[in-house]
Amino acid sequence: MECGALAAMAASSWQVAALLAVALCVLPALPAARAARAFFIFGDSLVDNGNNNYLLTSARADSWPYGIDTPDHRATGRFSNGKNVVDLISEQIGSVPVLPYLSPELDGENLLVGANFASAGIGILNDTGIQFANIIRISKQLTYFEQYKHRLAKLYGPERAARVVGGALTLITLGGNDFVNNYYLVPYSARSREFSLPDYIKYILSEYKQVLRRIHGLGARRILVTGVGPIGCVPAELAMHSLDGSCDPELQRASEAYNPQMEAMLNELNAEVGAGNGNGAVFVAVNTRRSHDDFIADPKAYGFVTATEACCGQGRFNGIGICTMVSSLCANRDEYVFWDAFHPTERANRLIAQNYLSGSTDYISPMNLSTIIHLDRHLHD
Ligand SMILES: *[C@@H]1O[C@H](CO)[C@@H](O)[C@H](O)[C@H]1NC(C)=O
Ligand SMILES: *[C@@H]1O[C@H](CO)[C@@H](O)[C@H](O)[C@H]1NC(C)=O
Repeated sequence: MECGALAAMAASSWQVAALLAVALCVLPALPAARAARAFFIFGDSLVDNGNNNYLLTSARADSWPYGIDTPDHRATGRFSNGKNVVDLISEQIGSVPVLPYLSPELDGENLLVGANFASAGIGILNDTGIQFANIIRISKQLTYFEQYKHRLAKLYGPERAARVVGGALTLITLGGNDFVNNYYLVPYSARSREFSLPDYIKYILSEYKQVLRRIHGLGARRILVTGVGPIGCVPAELAMHSLDGSCDPELQRASEAYNPQMEAMLNELNAEVGAGNGNGAVFVAVNTRRSHDDFIADPKAYGFVTATEACCGQGRFNGIGICTMVSSLCANRDEYVFWDAFHPTERANRLIAQNYLSGSTDYISPMNLSTIIHLDRHLHD
């Protein structure tokens, strides 16, 4: 309104000035129009963008050949040859990659993009990943989120900060390590002696529910929660348990039992918290296992040469130990589902992210990301 009046006034006296005034009026609006939705990420190595680079831990991906397919071929801390799934979701919501919370660059305007709190090796339980020593467990990630909110409010005021957080997209990936790096880490692990598998699943989901309640309590209103992938089919497990490349049935049974119960737990939470922004479910279940199962069942249909062999590693299925500069490395990463013994290649991540965006409810439920983007289009500035 003010801008229009100013432009009209100028037009009556001097046309060039009018054009200038219009330009000046349009300019301040531009950054707001372009500002993408903030994105918050919690979880483990599947979504860690480099927090562990700043920690004393063996769970890290900060040396070659990690990152070999990035523009400058440098390792970033992502467990991939290039982008991971959250980078690709940032692309989908029209944003730039989210910085790790521990990065010194995460300050000022960069805070508006969001923050990535994920740390490789962690799980729902505090005793998951103890072998990796110094990693950011989930309760600490939430404490960092509180810290982030204070910093944001200090810089931009409490109202804007609340709008950024309430209008944000949040994603959390947890649970895989509670099986692979805890219950099934060694035969007769402490947790497997304590719990039968069904009781263990109930236990970790009851803990997970509290974590998710806390994230909601901190203001997040659209939260993607990923299930556990095909943990019995990753090259690391094939190397240990499989003769012919068929998946480990026990681990597969674990994720098969876990995923529907996780979805049921999210439904309970949705009933508890109500519709977040007045437009649909707060918690959205992502079935990454389903995407992966597609690749494993028919790799060629998706342009992959193998879904059993890792690109970077050593030994059987290239799945033994970690990916380092002396590992055997495949020539064409795009032909592999798995980059290392546990993590997908950028190309696999891209196909998985596509299912987030436009998959049916078999992949993401009760709605996909394009529906979410449409519903939430007025929430963020
Ligand atoms: C994990 O540790 C944190 C911090 O010490 C604690 O608050 C939390 O209750 C613990 N969680 C479980 C499941 O024991
Ligand atoms: C998912 O996204 C696509 C593309 O936006 C849409 O046409 C479709 O209806 C959605 N599917 C479901 C099940 O929501």
